Amino acid sequence: MEKRCLLWYLFSYYKWRRDVYYLMEKLPGDPRYPIVGTDYTFIGVPKEELFNAFIGSIKKYGPTFRTWNGSNHELHLTKPEHLELIMNNSIHITKGYQYEILYPWLGQGLLTSDGARWFQHRKLITPTFHFKILENFMNVFVEKSEILLKILDAKADGSVHNVHSDITHCALDIICETAMGVNVNAMSNDDNEYIKAIYDISELFVWRAVRPYISDFVFQYLKKGRRFREDLEILHGFTNKVISDRKKILEKKGRKADTSDKDDLGIKKRSSFLDLLLEASDGGRVLSDTDIREEVDTFMFEGHDTTTAGMSWTLLLLGNNPEIQEKVFEEVRNVLQDKPTPTSLNELHELKYLECVIKESLRLYPSVPFIMRRIKQDIQIDDYKIPENVQIILHIYGVHRNPEHYVNPDKFDPDRFLPENSAKRHPYAFIPFSAGPRNCIGQKFAMYEEKTILASIVNRFKLTAVESMDNIKLTSDIILRPANGVLVKLEKRM
Ligand code: HEM
Repeated sequence: MEKRCLLWYLFSYYKWRRDVYYLMEKLPGDPRYPIVGTDYTFIGVPKEELFNAFIGSIKKYGPTFRTWNGSNHELHLTKPEHLELIMNNSIHITKGYQYEILYPWLGQGLLTSDGARWFQHRKLITPTFHFKILENFMNVFVEKSEILLKILDAKADGSVHNVHSDITHCALDIICETAMGVNVNAMSNDDNEYIKAIYDISELFVWRAVRPYISDFVFQYLKKGRRFREDLEILHGFTNKVISDRKKILEKKGRKADTSDKDDLGIKKRSSFLDLLLEASDGGRVLSDTDIREEVDTFMFEGHDTTTAGMSWTLLLLGNNPEIQEKVFEEVRNVLQDKPTPTSLNELHELKYLECVIKESLRLYPSVPFIMRRIKQDIQIDDYKIPENVQIILHIYGVHRNPEHYVNPDKFDPDRFLPENSAKRHPYAFIPFSAGPRNCIGQKFAMYEEKTILASIVNRFKLTAVESMDNIKLTSDIILRPANGVLVKLEKRM
């Protein structure tokens, strides 16, 4: 019986591989060679040209093509209609093999898990992103924006400054406080062990992602492997300590965390995502401490680089388009009157043109330019029959620049997002936060954060970019960022 099962398994596997090879042979793409696959096309390409080289294949072979990352096949899709087939189907929620390098840090958090576990956790965590909870985070957005404004005040001296790290530190302070209820003060002091480990591990992920031929076994013996383990120890140690301290405090108080919690001075305290997860965990019966740590770590990973990149690109685009910047400024002044920053969700909702600007920035420069899935059922795409378990790269960047859906797609034109101009657009032609059941759970949080910080900056300063958009190099590890940071001149408006 066992022998027959094994034979059946081997036969199915052989048939699957044959079907995949047949499909890959049919699809357009660069010639494939043993060991390197098609990765040889990137050899010698400078880091800041890699993304363009990668995207270049869309023009060369799109809309549907294939690459080989070493011996791993990859099918690329760039048309909204095709992305919808996968993203809008709750069967195809399994992530690609590329996410495995995140497991040691994020474990089975929302981003990396699938199946029943993902479904249960998503259902449990969704209410923690309710707008009533997000409203509670406005205090954090405002407080951190005010600190950022002070830092930028000192840079409004007529000379060129790179404000990328200021934006990064601000986003990190926001996510630490909202996710864990901890103030790491990255804006005043980035010499923090935890912050340094986040930077370092992100770098190591990228290093590994472009070297699929280095196995886990080999990696653990490399110097970088040791660094990776040290970073992990710091990151997990920090989150574990925050969780256990918070649990003790809540147990001592003998009551659940709630958003109207007051401190000893009677001042309303903020609830963090961690507090909400601890409350939902039902004393460990629904979520264990490890489950909670994995979700908090996932928020930390997903919740700062993405918004930093979004704000960085918006600042560069505004610094290159003074008329659009003036329109944003006028709107902000109208809504805020004499205030330096927005302070309520109502005000943020009134900043409609700024929202168009942020969306148009995310269209041109989506923080997450592509995502990966492994499909769980055969599907038909045009003339191609795609067998189950094929690895697919879904090109968010490619979709956003598709001339069939955007006239003059490389032009920065926020008016595209006015209601009258976007009503007829294909629903999958604008998907910076992905779409369907596995869309970004933090998208409202991200929009509120970006709006608060950007409105505060534009309200206080006139920005002039130093590099023109055509000259700015794009670099993408996991996140799409400007290679040289955000080089701007700041002029105080008041
Ligand atoms: C501009 C900012 C952001 C962008 C562009 C963005 C984009 C995305 C995208 C494209 C995905 C799908 C990833 C995939 O399928 O591989 C995703 C998932 C996710 N994002 Fe975001 N994100 C942003 C901000 C945030 C923030 C602020 C948080 C948390 C506070 C967050 C938490 C998550 C989580 C937990 C997932 C996994 C959801 C699931 O699979 O159920 N994101 N995000």
